[in-house]
Amino acid sequence: MDLIALAKTGEIGDDTAKEFSLTQYQPPLELFVIRKTGRIFAYINRCPHTGVTLNWMAHQFFDIENEFIQCATHGALFTVENGHCVRGPCAGAYLQPAPIIIEDGMIYLQPREYHAGDHAGNDSLD
Ligand code: FES
Repeated sequence: MDLIALAKTGEIGDDTAKEFSLTQYQPPLELFVIRKTGRIFAYINRCPHTGVTLNWMAHQFFDIENEFIQCATHGALFTVENGHCVRGPCAGAYLQPAPIIIEDGMIYLQPREYHAGDHAGNDSLD
C-alpha cells in the first residue's frame, strides 16, 4: 500500500495534536500525530489499559500542562517521546507507535510498517 498523507507539518503546532480516523480500513484505524518542542510523533489512538481511544475531545491528547499524553478515561500519563506510561493503571506499558515519515513538509503514514498488536486483532494494514 502506498503512503497515506495525513497532514502538513505546519498544521500541527507545538504542544498540539491532530487525530485521524482512516476509514479505508475496517474497523477504521484511529491514530494521532502530536508535536512537542518541534518534534513530531505519532501513535495508534488506543490506550493499553482497556483499548479505548485516549481522548474525549477532538484532537486533545495533552495533559493540562502540555507535558504528557493523557488518557481521558482513567488518567494514565504517557511520555510524548516514546509513549511510555509513567503513571496510571497501565504504568510500564507503551502506546503503539504509528510509523510516519515526513517529506517536503507532509506527514505520511507508512502502512507497510504498521502491524497491529496481538490485542488489537488482525487489522494489519498490509
Ligand atoms: S483506559 Fe486509559 S487509563 Fe484506563
